[in-house]
Amino acid sequence: MTGLTRADLDAVPSYIVHRIPERHVNLSTNEVPFGPLPGVPEAVADATARVHRYPDMAATELRDALAARYRVAPERVVTGAGSAALIEHLVRATAAGGGEVVHAWRSFEAYPVLIAAGGGRSVPVPCLPDHRHDLDAMLAAVTPATGLVLLCHPNNPTGVAISRPELAAFLDAVPPHIVVAVDEAYREFVTDPRLPDTLAEHGHRRNVVVLRTLSKAWGLAGIRLGFLVADAQVAAAVRKVVTPFSTNALAQAAGLAALRAEPEMRRRVRVLAAERDRLTDALSARVDGIPRSHANCLWLPVGERALVLARRCAERGVTVRPFAGEGVRVTIGTREANDALLDALGPASAEPGRTWDTTP
Ligand SMILES: Cc1ncc(COP(=O)(O)O)c(C=O)c1O
Repeated sequence: MTGLTRADLDAVPSYIVHRIPERHVNLSTNEVPFGPLPGVPEAVADATARVHRYPDMAATELRDALAARYRVAPERVVTGAGSAALIEHLVRATAAGGGEVVHAWRSFEAYPVLIAAGGGRSVPVPCLPDHRHDLDAMLAAVTPATGLVLLCHPNNPTGVAISRPELAAFLDAVPPHIVVAVDEAYREFVTDPRLPDTLAEHGHRRNVVVLRTLSKAWGLAGIRLGFLVADAQVAAAVRKVVTPFSTNALAQAAGLAALRAEPEMRRRVRVLAAERDRLTDALSARVDGIPRSHANCLWLPVGERALVLARRCAERGVTVRPFAGEGVRVTIGTREANDALLDALGPASAEPGRTWDTTP
């Protein structure tokens, strides 16, 4: 505590920067491995000729394209420097001043940090043993101090989704004056038609905000572009706290080009979904209890063996993402990258429950 900065930030964990050695197969950051979508590099290169000018602060063309693509009015769309930034802005608009933000846990590791940065107070609600959001407990955690409820669907790091009836019942039950934000960063990877599309099915609810990103399926992680769709009045409030010009000119150009390449995005997602099935089968022969993933990652619930497992992979040139004492998240990569992971893990063992020698 220095006395110079907000005391509450002392208790907030700092971001952990994971260094990925250059020649490693990186299966730790939930990106899509196929490079930018066609047309994106050219659009960005073209936009660099005008970077001495400020970008369109309202990102009008991009916002209109998103609004048309998702069939909503443009005034309901807010773009930002990644959905992570928009989560912080949303907290600032709904829960700053210590308002409570109810969210599932384990979930996206940045939530506690973004909530604190936005001036809210994180209220983590443990997921059920099968990794689903405990929606009953989340509802019970809503109090008069709650400013925002955050659902992660499908959840990072497990890929576990919320069923259509569960989501509808939850949204019916939350008091209508509390905003429920559904973070659908991985929505494009959902292939099961029984799962809900929050925007299409619940976007009309005034208190529902849907967060999407162009970092994942759309392949723009490095340029920082996300958006949310909210009730027009909620969107207007969020726009007031967005850092001006934070949807930069290159991101606007890249986003428009990526949207034009949607068929190729869909093709890539189909390739990854098939790899997800293959990897789930192959890894389930080695690890018990891998939940069905609807995202571009798989969760290995190996508990205390998480760090050892990650180290074993790293020694064999594959970077994965361990969560100490809980498990390991692996991103679905190309077929070759996934094979490298399987090679790094070695063959399944006959010993039940213990698939590798994980003695340090
Ligand atoms: C669930 C979830 N939400 C949001 C984000 C942030 O994405 P970005 O800020 O790149 O849009 C991530 C990134 O990993 C994520 O997993």
